[in-house]
Amino acid sequence: MSQWRMSPELLERFRTATTVVVLTGAGISAESGIPTFRGDGGLWRSFRPEELATPEAFHRNPRLVWEWYMSRRELIMTAMPNPGHLALAEWENLVPSFTLVTQNVDGLHRKAGSRNVFELHGNILRSRCDDCGALLGGTAPGTDGAIPRCSCGGMARPDVVLFGELLPSDVLQKAEEAVAGADLFFSIGTSSVVYPAADLPRIATRHGAFTVEINLIPTELSDIFDETLRGPSGQILPAILAAAALGMSGAVTC
Ligand code: OAD
Repeated sequence: MSQWRMSPELLERFRTATTVVVLTGAGISAESGIPTFRGDGGLWRSFRPEELATPEAFHRNPRLVWEWYMSRRELIMTAMPNPGHLALAEWENLVPSFTLVTQNVDGLHRKAGSRNVFELHGNILRSRCDDCGALLGGTAPGTDGAIPRCSCGGMARPDVVLFGELLPSDVLQKAEEAVAGADLFFSIGTSSVVYPAADLPRIATRHGAFTVEINLIPTELSDIFDETLRGPSGQILPAILAAAALGMSGAVTC
């Protein structure tokens, strides 16, 4: 059971916002059974990113890196959006401009029905050529573990951003522009330690948006938000939508 309070100001902002940007991280998918990266049970507690999620690791041992991504891909393919994803998809239908910026590679926002989605870190369900960058659909190693090749001869790799790589610049630029124009900004289920995504709340603040964080625990950036709601996003987001629809505010117990 979690307790959180939405202020009357947030309710009013929620009702009157015309340009909304939401940033999500692994926490929004936790209630769909997908592990987060940090904290108890986080992937980076059991696996070393430098062995599995860097370009060097991929070139050193592409089979090992593919094996790890395949195990995550299989889990993600069967995962279903949770009430948090679904509430965001519903919210998009209620405001004139709604942009969802996600660090997640699981594709669950689109599966939930969200349309205007920027995937900052790529999508684990897609592959691309490590040399020429051509998109290669869902290409994956066969049971013999052989790495598929692009027509240019390059190795197929998961279409995700690895540590040390730059984010797709067009996606990042569009996301930053959307944040700069937002009047209401939510950061949901992210530890706010990975940049450049963690710059987005500051951009929102600088441009005068009302900013809200939803997380189970305080984060590196909690202090800069106008409002922080502590609890699971899969409970808080549907409750906010319901409260806004009913014109309520104040303490809501989930
Ligand atoms: P993290 O694992 O760093 O943080 C997840 C956050 O979600 C934590 O702050 C949790 O407290 C919070 N959380 C967990 N369950 C929640 C729930 N039900 N409701 C609300 N909050 C919840 O994940 P990210 O911040 O997304 O990068 O990590 C950023 C990047 O680091 C990832 O995109 C990935 C990783 O290395 C790449 O793979 C490039």
